[in-house]
Amino acid sequence: MQIIFGVDTYISIVLRGSDHTYHPEKTEKMAKVKILDKEFETSIPEAEILKAIDGVAAKINSELSDKNPLFVCVLNGAFMFAADLMKRVTIPCQISFVKVASYSGTSTTGSVKQLIGFNEDVKGRTVVLIEDIVDTGITIEGLVRQVEEMGASEVKVATMLFKPASCKASVKPSYVGMDIPNAFIVGYGLDYDGYGRNLRDIYKLAE
Ligand code: IMP
Ligand code: MG
Repeated sequence: MQIIFGVDTYISIVLRGSDHTYHPEKTEKMAKVKILDKEFETSIPEAEILKAIDGVAAKINSELSDKNPLFVCVLNGAFMFAADLMKRVTIPCQISFVKVASYSGTSTTGSVKQLIGFNEDVKGRTVVLIEDIVDTGITIEGLVRQVEEMGASEVKVATMLFKPASCKASVKPSYVGMDIPNAFIVGYGLDYDGYGRNLRDIYKLAE
């Protein structure tokens, strides 16, 4: 059966079973999802994602308990991970948001264009950048440099997903939910052409 979201049929979802009503609570049973021209299949179910986040939060809670960290969620992709992570962080902290677009030019360091910037004074603070995924590392390297130049005493990176084989940056994330291979994925904040961010599970391109 196919479920169509929206008037323009951008996303159709193939559910197991024969129920013809859309039940958001059954989204974990989705096997395949079509976004625009591509078909994706479940890769990391929501339960596994949340278990990994429990581990990230536990590490942060034990390592940064006396640091009064400022968490900075990197929009758009990290919104869902940031929300689930922050619900599990129990130490005194603040959270803010930045929005960036990265350019992967010929330079190995790259540069990051800021669409929404920092409001907070980061001088002398422990800053934890929250990312959905560190792929080449260009985005996170640019941001880490920027926060260091703004006078933060230390800058750490928490990422839900890390592609170690693809990462060329000198900056490596301190807190990683999961290492994954170099394959394109969507869901849980990650998009394909702007779509798929709202999916609860993570999907990979279907073979
Ligand atoms: P970077 O290559 O580490 O700079 O990654 C830049 C951004 O690309 C990430 O923050 C994601 O938003 C996006 N990205 C990287 N890999 C994927 C993927 O597999 N699916 C969707 N977006 C991705
Ligand atoms: Mg991102």
